[in-house]
Amino acid sequence: MTEKRLTPEERLQEEFNLWAQAGEGEKMRNHHLDITEKTLRVMNLRPGERVLDLGCGSGWATRLLARLVADGPEGFGQVVGLDVSDEMIRQARAESQEFENVLYIWGSAQQIPWEENFFDKVLSVESFYYYPDQDRALAELFRVMSPHGRLFILINLYKDNPYSLQWVDKLRVPVHVRSKDQYVQLLKAHAFEDVEAWQVPDDTPTLDDYQTTSFDSLEDLRAFKKTGALLLMASKPDVRNQAPGYTIY
Ligand SMILES: C[S@@+](CC[C@H](N)C(=O)[O-])C[C@H]1O[C@@H](n2cnc3c(N)ncnc32)[C@H](O)[C@@H]1O
Repeated sequence: MTEKRLTPEERLQEEFNLWAQAGEGEKMRNHHLDITEKTLRVMNLRPGERVLDLGCGSGWATRLLARLVADGPEGFGQVVGLDVSDEMIRQARAESQEFENVLYIWGSAQQIPWEENFFDKVLSVESFYYYPDQDRALAELFRVMSPHGRLFILINLYKDNPYSLQWVDKLRVPVHVRSKDQYVQLLKAHAFEDVEAWQVPDDTPTLDDYQTTSFDSLEDLRAFKKTGALLLMASKPDVRNQAPGYTIY
């Protein structure tokens, strides 16, 4: 019998389902919390906002977002978590039962199953470099973001953090390795405005007895954290785009 050829996204689904089953979803919380909390402060979230968590994994950041935009004088904020791994989505739903303003959907960043001009803010933590077609994901983000909506993408694997490049051969799925400048150009090419790129260090201490499989040494891990993650920020201009064939009555 011939083996079924997987599409690149089915391959990602398969790989991240394994991560979810191995308990990596919650472990990633520890690895990404420091840089994510710093990003949440910059996002300036307010009650009533609509937020997308792209590549939400087990949903720990989605829940942080949900608390920050929940009911208030400016309305009832909602957060949507989207992930290509159905197993991650199952775990995220199970952990979020007490939240009434969170919805998790299984789908791809390259075909976001949501309406146009909707999200005020988008957060994506450590997910963007896996997308097989990053251009298509950015076109989709532009479509679903509201006019003046702002995008926040955290990327740990990029050229300007040489320590992160050790992962490329260790990961079992292909990744994009771009530089800070290349990402800025990419966002501008997709008509995003006010594009900014910061480096956000991870200030959590690395203990001497910490066991790492992702890095060749603890010194490399410490240097990786000090160099920091790339935080890309960009805004959709004041345009309301229509999907092809979409009719406004
Ligand atoms: C390294 S994990 C990070 C998860 C989460 N944001 C966190 O920080 O814990 C990357 C996540 O991106 C998701 N992902 C990868 N490719 C995707 C795609 N094309 N569309 C949506 N999600 C994707 C994976 O399933 C996985 O949950």
